[in-house]
Amino acid sequence: MTNIQILTGDCLKLLPTLEESSIQSCITSPPYWGLRDYDHDDQIGSEESPIEYVENLVSVFREVRRTLKADGTVWLNVGDGYARNGGTGSCGPNAAVGNTKKMIQRRNCKVPECWGLKDRDLIGLPWRVAFALQNDGWILRSHITWIKKNAMPESVRNRPSNATESVFLFSKSPSYYYDRNAVREPTGANLRNYWILGPDSSRSGHPATFPKELAARCILLGSREGDTVLDPFGGSATTGLAAGELNRKAVLMELNPSYVQIGLTRTENLQPALQLQAG
Ligand SMILES: C[S@@+](CC[C@H](N)C(=O)[O-])C[C@H]1O[C@@H](n2cnc3c(N)ncnc32)[C@H](O)[C@@H]1O
Repeated sequence: MTNIQILTGDCLKLLPTLEESSIQSCITSPPYWGLRDYDHDDQIGSEESPIEYVENLVSVFREVRRTLKADGTVWLNVGDGYARNGGTGSCGPNAAVGNTKKMIQRRNCKVPECWGLKDRDLIGLPWRVAFALQNDGWILRSHITWIKKNAMPESVRNRPSNATESVFLFSKSPSYYYDRNAVREPTGANLRNYWILGPDSSRSGHPATFPKELAARCILLGSREGDTVLDPFGGSATTGLAAGELNRKAVLMELNPSYVQIGLTRTENLQPALQLQAG
């Protein structure tokens, strides 16, 4: 039996409506700071400063912690970015740009005044978020490198092209549910902390879906059949799709109604999804 709920609204407002200790595992990928424009005033990732971005994520995951069972986990995929001066942002010469580029163009305008950042510095956001969450009470258990098959090409000549992202495993308590036999290496060895995964062959219509296999691995390792998993940044409902296929229940939250619609369509064959409106 599957049960996928997709809630429309700001996860910071929706999370407090969830029952305490009701979720086994949270699998999620928030917007990356200053990268894509998800076309909503309340979107995370559009903060002027990366410090605010980290603070917002700490607030989201503080509320996630309340909803997690004592032996619950969070699997967090978060990406990095470069500090740039004088790029082509809204102050630059190419300000009239398409929706998906608007944000990065603005970010490339001016190096943020924090953390000693200089022009062309890699910001190190995944680890800054991880340390902030650790400082807020989470136990940081693993850093998994997602090696991307078919990574987006970059036209850079002065550094290697990026082809990896981070997935952090956090637990609420020192002892937590982790099924080490649910996913193993092809040799039968314990799963390693680098996952080579390609993009899904079918396009979802959302600009930043993660591979279903990534969500599936986290769900298998972090929950049992019948458990409920959470994705507060649901996007096109990849976590819900994987959860349904693995006989887990899922609660997803997504700000942009058009992505909610994509998620509902993607998951409708699992079972009719329930859509609620945030106040
Ligand atoms: C990186 S995408 C997630 C993609 C998802 N993993 C998938 O496979 O489709 C991040 C999503 O978070 C949504 N979002 C941004 N701010 C939000 C907020 N405050 N509450 C809920 N969703 C938000 C964006 O609209 C975007 O769809």
